[in-house]
Amino acid sequence: MKSIAAIPLGLYIHLPWCIRKCPYCDFNSHEAAGELPYDRYVDALLRDLDAELSHIQNRKVDTIFIGGGTPSLFPAAAVRRLLDGIRARMDCVTGMEVTLEANPGAADTSRFSGFLAAGVNRLSIGVQSFRNHQLKRLGRVHDSAAAHAALAAARDAGYGDINIDIMHGLPDDRDDEALVDLVEALAFEPTHISWYQLTIEPGTAFAHRPPQLPDHDSVAKQFDAGSEMLAAAGYDRYEVSAYARPGRCARHNINYWQFGDYIGIGAGAHGKMTSTLGIFRSEKRRNPATYMSQAGQPECTTRSGPVDDADLITEFAINALRLREGFDESLFTSRTGLTRGALSDPVRQAQEHGWLNDAAGVIRPTELGYRFLNDLQLLFLK
Ligand SMILES: C[S@@+](CC[C@H](N)C(=O)[O-])C[C@H]1O[C@@H](n2cnc3c(N)ncnc32)[C@H](O)[C@@H]1O
Ligand code: SF4
Repeated sequence: MKSIAAIPLGLYIHLPWCIRKCPYCDFNSHEAAGELPYDRYVDALLRDLDAELSHIQNRKVDTIFIGGGTPSLFPAAAVRRLLDGIRARMDCVTGMEVTLEANPGAADTSRFSGFLAAGVNRLSIGVQSFRNHQLKRLGRVHDSAAAHAALAAARDAGYGDINIDIMHGLPDDRDDEALVDLVEALAFEPTHISWYQLTIEPGTAFAHRPPQLPDHDSVAKQFDAGSEMLAAAGYDRYEVSAYARPGRCARHNINYWQFGDYIGIGAGAHGKMTSTLGIFRSEKRRNPATYMSQAGQPECTTRSGPVDDADLITEFAINALRLREGFDESLFTSRTGLTRGALSDPVRQAQEHGWLNDAAGVIRPTELGYRFLNDLQLLFLK
């Protein structure tokens, strides 16, 4: 690997509790029973981080993402102790992006101000829909009024960067109904919108009792109309589900898609780290109680690697092709340690389908290739 120090480094922190489990969600999230063990969990996270430090060779952290679960369930004082603990242990770049995920049903103005004062500078708010019947159906703990209140609280607290999560393809939605949610989100003028299509994930309540989802054509119409609306409002679709005002892309997520490195701490958190021996992956114990008792000990982490060449090609392509701009071939060689020749066959096949452009060393999905992204990515499977 040429220069490991030049690979951006993110820090993902998983807080695994929610007020209630949403029927579509397969994240490692658990219903909170009684008072959460904030202090014990922050202690465990910092022990976990201490155990990771030997793997990062004094590299600086570029971005932090506190995800969940519902991180906004944690009091601001706990988030401050966590961020202070990180800053005491690691060098952070100037202007580091620090995102925290919030649920409108678990958030209030004073908490948002406290998170900001603790060092969070980007708030990601899980609204999903502004329509009460859909929120109910999605098992959300908040209604539309609470979503509006959370957005106003985020703005009043002074956040410069706010993301809103919205879903489309919701049960029984007809072609244009879903657009109401985007109209309301846009009225708030966030810097970023994550516009996800609802998927039915194995093991979820929706997988056991599937709701009636709109058919493929109807979802495609929703998507085309919504994309036009977002573009007209000045939001660039820079990734499959991510739309940003100029200069406001999520740096932490871009690092995943550009095959950068990240430390993962917290229950079930995943990490990826480049070393002189290759690329290694890590996964922490998923159960919060087990995690808290084992954090910092070797048995808390499953490590695997180095990733073999065929998997490197697949993993790089699956991530980087999600970006609308594609990737420079020098990114491929520097992040994987492989030569450009390793991509020749799948790139040629994709060009034959009209799915990829390869000009001046930049490999970029065509309009058609982006529409058939799953098929395009399949060409890079070993
Ligand atoms: C960890 S949650 C965000 C914070 C908080 N837990 C919440 O839900 O408000 C991450 C986001 O992933 C999206 N998501 C989760 N499961 C999904 C699914 N099955 N289909 C589409 N989007 C999903 C939702 O938009 C959700 O806001
Ligand atoms: S609140 Fe968020 S993390 Fe929790 S269950 Fe719902 S979607 Fe999943």
